[in-house]
Amino acid sequence: MDNSPRNVVVIGAGTMGSGIAAHLANLGLGVTLLDVSEDTVHAAFGRAKKAKPPHFYVPETADTVKLASIEHGSVAIREADWVCEAIVEKLEAKKALFSLIEPLLRDDAFVSTNTSGLEISLLCDGRSPSFRRRLVGTHFFNPPRYLKLLELIPTTDSDPAVVEAMTRFLEERCARRVVPAKDTPGFIANRFGMWSMFFSVHCAERLGLSVEEVDAITGPFMGRPRSGSFRLNDIVGLDIMQDIATNLVSRCPHDPYTKQFTPPRSFEYLLEKGWIGDKAGQGYYRREGRELMSLDLQGLGYRVRQEPQLSSLVELGRKPLAERLREGLELRDQVGSFLRSYLPTALEYAEYLRQDICHSVEDFDRVMMWGFGWEAGPFETTDMVQSRGAPWYQGSTMSDGLGGTVPRKSEPQFAGIRDFPVVEATATFRVRDMGDGVRLIGTTTKMGVFTVGLVKELTEYLKSGQAGPIVLSSESRSFSAGFDLQFLLDAAQDKRSAEIDAELQNLQQLGVLLSTLPTVAAVFGHCLGGGYEMATSCALVAAHPETQMGLPEAKVGLIPGGGGAARMRQRHDSSAKSIVDAVRTLVTGTVSSNADEARKLGFMRRRDVTVYHPDRLFTEAKRLALTVAPQPETHWGAVTGPVGGMIEQALQDLLKAGEITEHDHTVAEQLRHVFVKSAGLDDAFAKERAAFDVLLAHGLTLARIRHMLETGKPLRN
Ligand code: NAI
Repeated sequence: MDNSPRNVVVIGAGTMGSGIAAHLANLGLGVTLLDVSEDTVHAAFGRAKKAKPPHFYVPETADTVKLASIEHGSVAIREADWVCEAIVEKLEAKKALFSLIEPLLRDDAFVSTNTSGLEISLLCDGRSPSFRRRLVGTHFFNPPRYLKLLELIPTTDSDPAVVEAMTRFLEERCARRVVPAKDTPGFIANRFGMWSMFFSVHCAERLGLSVEEVDAITGPFMGRPRSGSFRLNDIVGLDIMQDIATNLVSRCPHDPYTKQFTPPRSFEYLLEKGWIGDKAGQGYYRREGRELMSLDLQGLGYRVRQEPQLSSLVELGRKPLAERLREGLELRDQVGSFLRSYLPTALEYAEYLRQDICHSVEDFDRVMMWGFGWEAGPFETTDMVQSRGAPWYQGSTMSDGLGGTVPRKSEPQFAGIRDFPVVEATATFRVRDMGDGVRLIGTTTKMGVFTVGLVKELTEYLKSGQAGPIVLSSESRSFSAGFDLQFLLDAAQDKRSAEIDAELQNLQQLGVLLSTLPTVAAVFGHCLGGGYEMATSCALVAAHPETQMGLPEAKVGLIPGGGGAARMRQRHDSSAKSIVDAVRTLVTGTVSSNADEARKLGFMRRRDVTVYHPDRLFTEAKRLALTVAPQPETHWGAVTGPVGGMIEQALQDLLKAGEITEHDHTVAEQLRHVFVKSAGLDDAFAKERAAFDVLLAHGLTLARIRHMLETGKPLRN
């Protein structure tokens, strides 16, 4: 029997407590959230419900979280399998809370603290041996829904069995990647990550570089998120940075590098003014009307944001990270100066900390990759930029820092697409061996677009009769952005109607072929239009939770033409109302922002699966492929009642409300025809293609397609 925790009590409903509660509720756990009073908990959770980006996949999930004051929460605490403390970062407050809840806790309940830097052993002070055996630090990252890292911090009193059970639970049920850290101030993330944030500001000020220049250098160019340095400070909040820094300075008196926590001049100025970042509406950046302003680090006034003129960033930008950094360090411009000031010292500091704060350099690197979005952590970066000495990483082993080597972690359950060996390749996809006879087809077109070539090659491959289960996915950042719009535009402009019809038929038939085979589509990122049509034709869809899924063809003046309109009609034939809802979704081009919403909108079937762990998509898809039985959907339910009239009424309402335009209505007319007049699936396929012929002859549709190709945004005409 699965005896992992089901009931969780989160104490503290602030930024983190609410975020953790929401994340666990999203995953289907029973969650109670407590705070000092009823009013406080309701007010704090009310703010969390409006968070941007949202904490919840679908708003209804918020209703499953029970709210109470700590005073009225004792029953929930008594019943809890896990109590997760996330109150203010004050040692005495946390200790008082633990003394209050200790008598209530079940003997076998997990208990953890979400401190960002207080040593866990200090929090155990005064507690019973049983409590001390169970208390661990569970340092979540903000926002928990989107950041998978969790630093797990045991103490010397922790029971290894508890630590192991907790790790398993967090990895299997809570969609986390767990990195164990030593019980030292700030653990790995804040000790090094926060230092790195302060140090960038010091380097910028010393070299006289601008906020924009440093953000451009410390963004994707260095393999880091777009927020760079200063934008990140605004997001995190200068007040929080200062609190963490003060704490680290007082707790690490022997660490010479903590002198970088002395507030930089601009930082001190902003703190004094209360301009602590996004929370205050301004920090290093400020919005004025439509204008984005940035702080001038010398004059300390705001000025219009200036596009940095750093040509070397563009020139080196396309090279792999290692080359970019190596060559960047040699540059005689601002980029080179910054890199020479920042990088060697940062790497030295990581080396200085290594033995004290982490169990392996791999753990250290993972924290920076998963918690801060760096492409490579400091030790992998050291390997990239240093030619002297043995590298830290050597394939499946790594240096133990003492002259020997140790194996790197082997975690096949988290395998990504590139972990499976390529056994075959065409111009448009690679075939990889997942083991146990399962093949992974990863499309290699840009954004997983289903081009005419991909449809042809994939059809040939599947027809070549190589039996066995298949996982269909993509090697790009998204499963698929759709069918090839450029082809449609070119062919429509040249009036090659017969060719368009033939290619659509090929796409539809590829879908039919996929539906007859043991296929699982492993989808992530975008799963749109033609890509969605192919995914949903597979026997099963396994979706990453953040997948944007749907059929937005109406946005380019078309209807789904690769079988998507027919499939939506087929799956919504339970009632006239359901059909009208499907039309409304399609004509407005509504796309889900995540997999749970896709289910709500009818883009995921009952049998399709959301793989909530972001790093388990491929292994789950493989597991499902081994048991999936193809169930081609060929039925065609007749729908009784005045469906045509109901659809028209719904369209008129949308027109009146200004939600659709006249041209959308023209598109919807074609959709209505497929929905109402089709005699069966094949007939619906034929009607979809005929609709394409009509709509592609329309100037407004062509204008929409052109606009989408040029700007990536829909044109509303
Ligand atoms: P916050 O200030 O947003 O929320 C703290 C909440 O705890 C407040 O709602 C407060 O009313 C409540 N509280 C205070 N004393 C309480 C008590 N005795 N009983 C019940 N509730 C009580 O703080 P935030 O940012 O959510 O931080 C919470 C913890 O998470 C801190 O230890 C912090 O260091 C840590 N953390 C914060 C991160 C962040 O990005 N904000 C990231 C990771 C960890």
